[in-house]
Parts: sequence; structure tokens; C-alpha cells
Amino acid sequence: MPGSDRDRETADGAQPYVPARGGIPALRRAAADCRGCSLYADATQTVFGAGAPRARVMFVGEQPGDQEDRAGEPFVGPAGRLLRSALAEAEVDEEQAYFTNAVKHFKFAPVAEGRKRRIHKAPNLGEMTACRPWLAAEVRRVNPELIVALGATAGKSLLGSSFRVTEARGTLVSLEPGPDMPLTAETTDHRDHRHLLSTVHPSAVLRAKDRDEAYGGLVADLRIAARFLG
Ligand code: URA
Ligand code: SF4
Repeated sequence: MPGSDRDRETADGAQPYVPARGGIPALRRAAADCRGCSLYADATQTVFGAGAPRARVMFVGEQPGDQEDRAGEPFVGPAGRLLRSALAEAEVDEEQAYFTNAVKHFKFAPVAEGRKRRIHKAPNLGEMTACRPWLAAEVRRVNPELIVALGATAGKSLLGSSFRVTEARGTLVSLEPGPDMPLTAETTDHRDHRHLLSTVHPSAVLRAKDRDEAYGGLVADLRIAARFLG
């Protein structure tokens, strides 16, 4: 219905909800009331980023899953457990990292009769764009030296829709500001030499036919992050 309250709330995405001042706690409080797209309506709560507020490395996933939606914390479900184990193996200290998602509300398909677990649905471009101001604000506040994009949604949100994880993964790139890089264009005032590393999403490892091989690939990519961080 054009002109409805919901259309007015969501028309400009998250930007009107992002506070100009304050650190990560202030962002998290404000994001709890975000209505920048329609995903807030069916999810339990906003799942904001978590971790070291001045982390040197920021991991960006896709969106919260079923367990994250219930807990209100990112990466607490099966994908998160796999990621933590891969980080330990690659010797990236998770206590020094910040974890967030490209989209902050869980999106799911209607639950089929007799099923308990809600099945996640990938966010669309409109939802990714609507939510990006939160990600940009997190990058500005945390100011990490290295951003690790976990999978295609994170990569597209950070670098634009031409991003392909199969081509980009495992190569450390210096983020140059420019119109093709939505996030860097919004955050260049801060750090000139931010780097980005892309790898697969931990959920893709869980779904892979050869899980050991996929896991080994994720660990190998994360070792690049570990070397960069020294
Ligand atoms: N998958 C994600 O991308 N993020 C989470 O927080 C959990 C699962
Ligand atoms: Fe706001 Fe993002 Fe949630 Fe949409 S998904 S309501 S933009 S926090």
C-alpha cells in the first residue's frame, strides 16, 4: 500500500536510524529499533555485530541465522562454530576480532508443517542496500585494518554486485575508494590503507560435498589474514 507507515519507515533504508555520535554500544542500541527494510517485521530481534570494539580485523557474514535470531548474537549457531574452529586452526585470535553481518535481521521462509527450524532465505539487493549504513557505521567506529568478507553477500555488500567469491577469494586487496566500492566510498575519511580478504561463507563449508576440502580452503584463506595481522 503506497504511503503506508511501513513504506515511510523503510523508504530510506537504515540511514535515518544511524546515530551520528557514539561508539558500537550506541549503534547497537539504535539498531534494535531499525525499520530500514521490512525484515524487522518477522524476525525476533536485530542481531548487531559483536566483539572487540577496536578490533584490527572485522569478519562480515551474510545475515543472522535461526539461532542468532533467537540469541541476538552473531555466529552462535553451526556456521559460527565452524568459523571459530577454522580461526583457531589458522591462528587468528578471535578475542581480537569483531564479527558482524551484511544484513542485521534474520530472513526466513515460512516454516513447513512439522518442522522446528526455520530455513534461512538469502537477502536481496534491496535489503543489503537498506542495511549497509549499519555496516558502514561499524567499519567507521571499529576502524579495522582488515575486513574479511565471508561469502558472496558480504562481498557484494562491501565491493558491489560484480563481486564473485570464486574469483576473489584468498587474495588480499587494498581497498581504494571509488564509486564501484559502496562501502569504501562511505568510509574513506578514516583509514587510507584498509585491506580486504574474501573467503567462502562457513555455511558453504557445511553444505559442501567434500567438507574436509572446503574446510581446508577456508583455513588456508584465514591463514592469509593471520599472516597479515602478524
Ligand atoms: N551466518 C552468518 O552469515 N552470520 C551469522 O551470524 C550466522 C550465520
Ligand atoms: Fe534495519 Fe537492516 Fe534490519 Fe532492515 S535488516 S530492518 S535495514 S537492521
